[in-house]
Amino acid sequence: MNPPATAAVPATAASPLPQPLLQVRGLVKHFPIRRGLFGRVQGQVRAVDGVDLTLRERETLGVVGESGCGKSTLGRALLRLIEPSAGQVLFDGTDLGTLDAAALRSQRRAMQIIFQDPFSSLNPRMTVGRILAEPLRLHGLHRGREGERVAELLRTVGLAPEHALRYPHEFSGGQRQRIGIARALAVEPRLVVCDEAVSALDVSVQAQVVNLLQDLQQRLGLAYVFIAHDLAVVRHIATHVAVMYLGRIVEWADKRTLFAAPRHPYTQALLAAIPVPEPPRAAGGARTRLLLAGDVPSPAKPPPGCRFHTRCPHARPRCAEDSPALQATLEAAAAGATHAVACHFWREIEPAAAALPEAAPANPRLERLQAAFRD
Ligand SMILES: Nc1ncnc2c1ncn2[C@@H]1O[C@H](COP(=O)(O)OP(=O)(O)OP(=O)(O)O)[C@@H](O)[C@H]1O
Ligand code: SF4
Ligand SMILES: [Mg+2]
Repeated sequence: MNPPATAAVPATAASPLPQPLLQVRGLVKHFPIRRGLFGRVQGQVRAVDGVDLTLRERETLGVVGESGCGKSTLGRALLRLIEPSAGQVLFDGTDLGTLDAAALRSQRRAMQIIFQDPFSSLNPRMTVGRILAEPLRLHGLHRGREGERVAELLRTVGLAPEHALRYPHEFSGGQRQRIGIARALAVEPRLVVCDEAVSALDVSVQAQVVNLLQDLQQRLGLAYVFIAHDLAVVRHIATHVAVMYLGRIVEWADKRTLFAAPRHPYTQALLAAIPVPEPPRAAGGARTRLLLAGDVPSPAKPPPGCRFHTRCPHARPRCAEDSPALQATLEAAAAGATHAVACHFWREIEPAAAALPEAAPANPRLERLQAAFRD
């Protein structure tokens, strides 16, 4: 297995910051590709291939990138819902890899996940009351007053205690997502991974659920890893953003920095699709649109060197050979901000520079992704 290509990134430069809640170092998750009668391993899907992250209490890390770049795998591996192939996940200073099954189960209480499709994760034969009481029973919480706790949870997510008697199919999509959130909150987590948690909802319901998540964060001090296709939603909810490409983080910054001055060519391409309300930057008027040519390469056979070099408009010969590490920028560190970029030439690339002529062949998959990013 190749060593992770990212270098350790200092959390942020400012020292008064509290101890990180989550620290991820060199996280790797490869899935074996089996073929033939005997299921011989023919290769590996490098879904997550050397990720470093830091997250503090009350922070929300938005994780964005094209479909298949490893976002869900990252979310599951850092909760250890799937076993990482390599790397470390420290939660509140404890290395989850060193815990036995019982200790991990009890630690999981503090780390919950909310999925895109709450319907498939809510047992249709159980009332909402039972669904919410189940995690309490499993962790031995609120013994003897489970009913009260269920009512409290329902109120917390904007539902009524009477809803405990109903079944999941009796609710709308937005209400079911609220039930999913209540179930995650039942065990009083400190970290919640939201994997496309609002993606399936109508825009107005999306806004309600996002506002609820933000409100809960303020009240309960939660940290979120918010995985989403929709950059507009990420821009709304995140405090920090990590941009993934083929299993690696290519840019990581606090939200302001990332949206104001993206430096990685891939981030620039994604952000170029979002309409810009401020005064135009480019001389010609509106912000110049950047299009990427070509498809995303297979994570089973990622390109050598910089994984983005086959599509990067700034690529040079070095890019095909030498893998760039995710390096914190000194400017950001000096300002107490977070900004790290995995590109050999980021200093020479203007923030949000136009790199390809409009006539460049567009990739229909990217076009669809960009369409999804629009407000
Ligand atoms: N259990 C598995 N076995 C084999 N390959 C897998 C498995 N889970 C995910 N993969 C592969 O790993 C890669 C990353 O998948 P993942 O679901 O993490 O991407 P994603 O960024 O969440 O995509 P999407 O935006 O479509 O949800 C993909 O190539 C996917 O096919
Ligand atoms: S390292 Fe090279 S290929 Fe990769 S993003 Fe930077 S310029 Fe593009
Ligand atoms: Mg996913």
